[in-house]
Amino acid sequence: MVFIIIFLVILHQSLPIHYIIKMSDQEQILQLRAELHRHNYNYYVKNAPEISDREFDEKMHLLMQLEEQHPELYDANSPSQRVGSDLSHEFEQVKHRYPMLSLANTYNREEVQAFYDRVSQGLGGEKFEICCELKFDGLSISLIYEKGQLVRAVTRGDGEQGDDVTANVKTIRSIPLVLSDNSWPESFEIRGEVLMPWESFEALNRQREQAEEPLFANPRNAASGTLKSKNSAVVAQRRLDAYFYYLLGTELPSDRHYDNMQRVAEWGFKVSDAMRTVSTLQEVMDYIDYWDKERSHLPVATDGIVLKVNSIGQQQRLGYTAKTPRWAIAYKFQAERALTRLNEVTYQVGRTGAVTPVANMEPVLLSGTIVKRASLHNEDIIRSLDLHIGDMVYVEKAGEIIPQVVGVEQSMRPANAGGTPVEFIKTCPECGAQLVRYEGEAAHYCVNDAACPPQIKGRIEHFISRDAMNIESLGPETVADYYDRGLIHNVADLYELTAVDIMGYNTNRQRSAQKVVDGIAASRKVPFERVLYALGIRFVGKVTAKQIARHFGSIDAIISASVEEMLEVEGVGEVIAQSVKDYFNEPRNVEIVERLRSYGLQLARGENSPNAVPGGDVLAGKSIVISGVFSHHSREEYKELIEACGGKNVSSISAKTTFVLAGENMGPSKQEKARQLGIQLMSEDEFLEMIGPRPNAGSDAQPGGDEHRPAAPQQLTLFD
Ligand code: IVH
Repeated sequence: MVFIIIFLVILHQSLPIHYIIKMSDQEQILQLRAELHRHNYNYYVKNAPEISDREFDEKMHLLMQLEEQHPELYDANSPSQRVGSDLSHEFEQVKHRYPMLSLANTYNREEVQAFYDRVSQGLGGEKFEICCELKFDGLSISLIYEKGQLVRAVTRGDGEQGDDVTANVKTIRSIPLVLSDNSWPESFEIRGEVLMPWESFEALNRQREQAEEPLFANPRNAASGTLKSKNSAVVAQRRLDAYFYYLLGTELPSDRHYDNMQRVAEWGFKVSDAMRTVSTLQEVMDYIDYWDKERSHLPVATDGIVLKVNSIGQQQRLGYTAKTPRWAIAYKFQAERALTRLNEVTYQVGRTGAVTPVANMEPVLLSGTIVKRASLHNEDIIRSLDLHIGDMVYVEKAGEIIPQVVGVEQSMRPANAGGTPVEFIKTCPECGAQLVRYEGEAAHYCVNDAACPPQIKGRIEHFISRDAMNIESLGPETVADYYDRGLIHNVADLYELTAVDIMGYNTNRQRSAQKVVDGIAASRKVPFERVLYALGIRFVGKVTAKQIARHFGSIDAIISASVEEMLEVEGVGEVIAQSVKDYFNEPRNVEIVERLRSYGLQLARGENSPNAVPGGDVLAGKSIVISGVFSHHSREEYKELIEACGGKNVSSISAKTTFVLAGENMGPSKQEKARQLGIQLMSEDEFLEMIGPRPNAGSDAQPGGDEHRPAAPQQLTLFD
């Protein structure tokens, strides 16, 4: 008997367990998943692998094979999901449960002391602890966990809502998909920073250099570009990492932030070892001193220190300003400086004619990137720096991204042989027109807006941009190409472009040319307020354009409005009112507007104003989730359409959801959730049919009505 047991023990140790006790495939899948989650954690969070890479790969391979044989055992959080997929996904916009605020910045010790004193005063002299942390320089991410499983990952976006990047985040190995320890609350949110470690960043840039692709300026840009990639397999290859620093929810394990962070580390999250609690200002300063030097040895980029009041009760008492918490602050490290030679000053002309001087320098390494150009902003700054060509200049990176010339090393300027002082140019480098500098303004302008090429191209680029006419089939390079080929001189010319014009003699380009023409034609549906913004009237941004459009209702009313009438619009002051007046006083601009009208663009708000819902209550009381990719309208248009029909667009599926408006490539987890809750999936066509010929989608456009429009003239040309 003893021999049999010994034999079994030996056999057990030498063979994978499933050879001895025949497990069902299901059991084996579950076991492999649990094992691989643990190995991931050991490797990526604890830096202490227990098995070799090869053994890990073998287990993963086996799991993937078994999962392929058993699609019914699909699990959105299986370790196999970390390899990503090359299925492209558009990001869904998701509202944050709690807004994602930023931190107030401080740059010197006095400001840190002032923060400390403010906290002390705010707490009525009560004792408090500060949790000192590193400020990681990546992009912030919010993760939602329910029942110990990652359910959603959202970028910061505008703080109110961000992009759902769950599929991409799952490929980050240090982020737990399934939590260990079992002591987590049923539902919570955790925030942290997604980073590209220096090593991965350098390897990626080496690869890109070889492939002659543009390099990423710094790890933050690389991490951000990667996380927004539409292909999660690319994200998986790029080796991102993530550190966590903020837990939110109704049932937190402790009243102390630091203790909460230690708990989340037990659940499987990566929390920096550098976190410390201190109770005196001196200790805060010591922490800053220590990390200011030591940070250069860290594997990831940091740009400062974050100080947080440790007690959550005290945090609540201190509260928030409009944008930042009063209980926390960031101390930014002094930017690194480099000394290099100024070779030349060149000038760039923007869409508005503003001329920006640019310093061209001897390339120099600064905070991990090579710098050779920096904006000099305007003539006054050049003067105050007393710049001479050939000077040795100090360069810093503001926010460690944009390089700035901050000073001249006068001692290195030869006494009598200094280079020529930099004199701001008098004429436009692009069109030769005389430059003007308006009273009270620092910038110089080229006022030849009718004929100065970068201004013309810039206006067209603005017109097609996402928040304006959103013509995705065009981009800055195509605009430049068409302009250089003499096809377009202004925004109205776009609507006369034919596919034949675009492709020229190259018939291989027929499809792409037609796509451009179709994209331009589709923009005729864009609502009036965006058309107004797209015109690029100086000082009229998105919000102002909306206010003006809503106030006057049509372009004709705007053209004939006086400055006084314009001033009645909320948010419009003298400068904007005058700018609008000047724009329409120019016959060239009015002519463009008339041409746009003749091509069918929306130059008035439709009968159905965005606020009213005439007859549009088909969806009243219905909660609708939009998921997937659509062909007739954009997701944004569907959102507006739902609202225009009295419905409510919600971001996640719950028992309260009425139906899901489901496009192509709807995520499997959403499908599964809808199935479990018995919620109907409605196709795009079914949806459009259900709402019938509807009011506009909260806009002046007529979504759903495209098919009945006569084809745009330019679409016919090719086939005539
Ligand atoms: S706490 C309400 N802690 O810095 C406060 N933020 O300017 C929530 N960041 O958006 C943020 N390291 O992306 C916090 N240890 C840390 C951080 C940190 C980096 C980033 C984060 C945030 C930004 C604030």
